[in-house]
Amino acid sequence: MRMVDIIERKRNGLELSAKELHEFITGYTKGEIPDYQASAFLMATYFNGMTEQEQANFTLEMLNSGDRVDLSEIPGIKVDKHSTGGMGDKTSIPLAPMIAALGIPISMISGRGLGHTGGILDKLEAIPGFKVELSEDQFIQQVKEIGVAIISTTGNIAPADKKLYALRDVTATVDSIPLIAGSIMSKKIASGTDALVLDVKTGSGAFMKEPKKAKELAQAMVAIGQNVGLRCMAVISDMDQPLGNTIGNSLEIEESIEILKGNGLRDITDLVLTLGSEMVVLARKATTLEEAREMLIETIVSQKALEKFGKMITSQGGDKRVLDNYSLLPQARYQIEIKAKSSGHVAQIKANELGIASMLLGGGRQNKEDQINYGVGLRLHKKVGDKVETGESLVTVYSDQLDITEVEQIILASIEIGAKKSPHPLIHEIIN
Ligand code: URA
Repeated sequence: MRMVDIIERKRNGLELSAKELHEFITGYTKGEIPDYQASAFLMATYFNGMTEQEQANFTLEMLNSGDRVDLSEIPGIKVDKHSTGGMGDKTSIPLAPMIAALGIPISMISGRGLGHTGGILDKLEAIPGFKVELSEDQFIQQVKEIGVAIISTTGNIAPADKKLYALRDVTATVDSIPLIAGSIMSKKIASGTDALVLDVKTGSGAFMKEPKKAKELAQAMVAIGQNVGLRCMAVISDMDQPLGNTIGNSLEIEESIEILKGNGLRDITDLVLTLGSEMVVLARKATTLEEAREMLIETIVSQKALEKFGKMITSQGGDKRVLDNYSLLPQARYQIEIKAKSSGHVAQIKANELGIASMLLGGGRQNKEDQINYGVGLRLHKKVGDKVETGESLVTVYSDQLDITEVEQIILASIEIGAKKSPHPLIHEIIN
């Protein structure tokens, strides 16, 4: 079968067969199909979507393009959580040790950030000495010994996705529901987990800006997971303003530790508890979400989750003294206050723009090769709905340079002060 015929059928809105998708994915992974034909396929899919059957076959082909991690040596139901990405989203960091403190094995294979959304691995690497590149054997051993590990992709997971994702990035085809669903689910299924909670973001700072589209994406991913026997559900959560009150790697580690000490902001703590309760129920450690929530709160009160995080840090080569001494994390040279120019209430905080401000400070990568400056970032003092007086600090900027004119302009343009407005509810919907 010629690739041009496959593209033509997709362009004409016809359903591709399993064989056609197999030929495309294997041919492209081996380098036999050029980028220009794969780009045409992606654009045709972007406009015409995929049927449920095509979606399942596409995901399976991406999955089968590489290896699967075998976690069968680890006793118990392994659970994982995946977020579609959001500003200030560090939920996995406190969540993993909280779940592990309940005796549920957590084997998380996570990603790095490109652009202004930071990845969990970059945040963890702010901890001096912390290593995210473990071999598969070390990963399994650590989960067996202490019940939790968060690492970068091991071996050869979904190489087709790696190639296609890079191509989507430069062909304006990232925000396509079947392509996102196939990309995320092929990697998650390959990572060997038994159960998966998906955190699908919606709002101005998310891929899926409209809740309706976020729901479609969540339903597509849950259907793919359940079809292959994965215990899978999704929470649709709000990303109209940054989560918690920090953006930047060291700052987000500090905030994660504060959550584990019971001092987290209400929004992020609530999201951690909501996602965590679903994970505990999927792992069959509790029968109701309320019971699971109580169990999770107890891991904070008893400091068992904090202790578990310390064990994970030590096991992955990091300095666990950061738990009690944040000055051991990389620090920026200057702290500069950005003050409100008017009084009123915070009506809007544009999450993406604040992410760009943090990236311009050096906290994120503009190109894959860029080195991250872990110490820089933003600490928000106000959230949507809060009252503000002229001259009050809105944000503390952590910077290595004193001249932050561009960053200041972005921040002031991102935080709208106006009439009193309530923030969106944090949890929009649950998809089972
Ligand atoms: N994250 C992924 O891994 N893939 C996508 O397509 C989008 C977000």
